[in-house]
Amino acid sequence: MKRIAVFTSGGDSPGMNACIRAVVRTAVYHGIEVYGIMRGYSGMINGEFVKLDSASVSNTVQKGGTILKSARSQKFLTKEGRQQAFDQLVNNGIDGLVAIGGNGTFTGAMLFEQEFGIPTVGAPGTIDNDLYGTDYTIGYDTAVNTALEAIDKIRDTADSHDRCFFIEVMGRDSGYIAIPCAIGGGAEIVMIPETQMSTDAVIDTLRAGWKRSKTSFIVIVAEGEEEGSATIVASKVKEAIPELDTRVTIIGHVQRGGSPTAADRLLGSQIGIAAVEGLMNGMRNVMAGIVDRKLVYTPFTDTIHKKKLINQSFMRMVEILSV
Ligand code: F6P
Repeated sequence: MKRIAVFTSGGDSPGMNACIRAVVRTAVYHGIEVYGIMRGYSGMINGEFVKLDSASVSNTVQKGGTILKSARSQKFLTKEGRQQAFDQLVNNGIDGLVAIGGNGTFTGAMLFEQEFGIPTVGAPGTIDNDLYGTDYTIGYDTAVNTALEAIDKIRDTADSHDRCFFIEVMGRDSGYIAIPCAIGGGAEIVMIPETQMSTDAVIDTLRAGWKRSKTSFIVIVAEGEEEGSATIVASKVKEAIPELDTRVTIIGHVQRGGSPTAADRLLGSQIGIAAVEGLMNGMRNVMAGIVDRKLVYTPFTDTIHKKKLINQSFMRMVEILSV
C-alpha cells in the first residue's frame, strides 16, 4: 500500500479530528503517503483531495468538528456518482481508504468496494453509538456529557418552578444517548425507540410521582421515539394532567460540537492507528472497533445490518432510581 486517503462523512462527531490525526501520523510512521478528501463522498466525486503530512494535523486533537468537513452525498448513492469517485481515486493514485462515519458511510463504502474493489477500513465516528462491532463510537462520550450539562441546568430551573421538562436528545433511531442522560441526569422517565413505552405509561408514572408530592420532573425523550417527539409527548401529557406545568427543550446540534473528552480523543486515536494498520495487513470492508477493551474488525455488512442491543437493565435502573 503506497497511498491512502481518509475522509469523514455523515454527521460530524467530536473526536473525528483525533482519528484523522492518528490516520495521518500512522501512515507517515509507516512510510505511506496520505491524502485527505474534503466533504466526504461529495469531495471524492468532485476531486477535493489534499495531501497531508504530520504538520497538517498539528493542534487538532482537541478540536471538535472535522477538519476534513463532512457531507451526506446523494450523488454517491448513484452508480454514476460512484464511478466518478472511483475515477478520482485512480487519478490520485489512491489504493486504500479510511472512512470515518456511521452506517450511511459504511453502506456507501461497502457498495463501492463491491463495484470497484477499493479496500476500505471504517472508523466508527458518530455521536449515536448505534454501531454493531464497537462498544463505543467516537464522539458518543462527548455528546452525552454535553447533553448532561444542559440537563443539569434545566433541572435547576425545573426545580425552582415546580415544572415538568421534556428534554429531547439526539440519537436518530437509538436510545444510546438518552439512557446515560436519564441515569446521570436523575430523570424520572426515559423514552427510547428500542422500548415501547406508551405515553399512557408516562402519564401514569408522572401522576404517581405527583401523588408522592414530587413537584418537578425530567423526562428524557430520544429523537426517533415511536410515540413522537418531546413536543408531541408533552402536549399529550398536558392534556391528561392539566395541573402539570410542562416545558420542552430540544438540545439539538449542540450535542455534536465541542472539544472531545479524553475518552473520545483516546478512542479516535486508537481507531485511527488500527484503521491504517488494518489496511496494511490486507483488511477490507471492515470497521475497526473496540469490544471488551479489545480491538476487533467487524465486516461492514454486520455493522450495517446487526442491531447493537440496549442493555435492558438500564431501563430498570431509571425506574428504581426515580422512586
Ligand atoms: O447521526 C448523528 C445525528 O446527529 C443524529 O443523532 C441525528 O438524527 C442526525 O445526525 C441529524 O442530522 P443532520 O445534522 O443532518 O440534521
